[in-house]
Amino acid sequence: MKIIAVTNIKGGVGKTTTAVNLSYLCAAGGRPTLLWDLDPQGAATYTLRGEPLERASAKKLLGGKRHLPELVLSTGYPRLDLLPADFSYRNFDVHLSERKRPTERLLKMSRPLREVYSALFLDCAPGISLLSENVLRAADAIIVPLLPTPLSVRMLAQLRDFIIGEGWVDLMLLPFFSMVDRRKSLHHDVIADTREQFPTMLATEVPYWSEIERMSLRRAPIPAFAPSGPAAQIYSALWAEVAARMGELPPPARQ
Ligand SMILES: Nc1ncnc2c1ncn2[C@@H]1O[C@H](COP(=O)(O)OP(=O)(O)O)[C@@H](O)[C@H]1O
Ligand SMILES: [Mg+2]
Repeated sequence: MKIIAVTNIKGGVGKTTTAVNLSYLCAAGGRPTLLWDLDPQGAATYTLRGEPLERASAKKLLGGKRHLPELVLSTGYPRLDLLPADFSYRNFDVHLSERKRPTERLLKMSRPLREVYSALFLDCAPGISLLSENVLRAADAIIVPLLPTPLSVRMLAQLRDFIIGEGWVDLMLLPFFSMVDRRKSLHHDVIADTREQFPTMLATEVPYWSEIERMSLRRAPIPAFAPSGPAAQIYSALWAEVAARMGELPPPARQ
């Protein structure tokens, strides 16, 4: 099982939109896929029409009283399951800090999922926290939706330096430009500069389109409700690039 996190210190940059569409496309491509909504706001859970699970509190999960496989919901889409968010996730850090090796808990908790899934997507909350450090430690790849602004690019450089500093040589950093308005000359300039600075950046750019925004109203992944539209094509291109970088996703451990 590969762990693919969608993360950015900022909110409102397209993390949830990306996590929902890419996990859907991964499952549609034939791989058993799980999306774990780690944001207490529960936007991915809402979009996939999941019900938040009261009994899935962060405390119980971290204390070993609940195990992830018992909390999984099916989304109704073939091979795509959901681990819904819980409002208690806002306290994840408090409970993490009470544990031994607090930055390795998420990796440990996710182990039983390896039996069942090829890919685990993590839809992360914004911010820097113990939980986000857990995510970086557990992930095989991190997808970073990046607004084309100088501040976002600085953040990306900091993230890259942090990963290098920790010596996580196997962690793939996969940033892409999100909410791009090519008519803005600032976007144009920032994108050109950043591509020079980060040659491994994904080529696909997700434009600022109302068709994409509509996903949260439709409460379904874009390729599920508008499969032949331009937005679905953008996410297919993005997923094709991510999948190519990651190589063949392994089948589940138990098949
Ligand atoms: N490419 C886009 N174009 C237009 N609106 C978008 C785009 N991506 C996301 N949105 C909208 O912007 C808001 C924030 O997106 P979301 O994916 O929830 O971001 P995050 O998870 O980073 O907070 C949502 O209302 C979403 O529908
Ligand atoms: Mg979100």
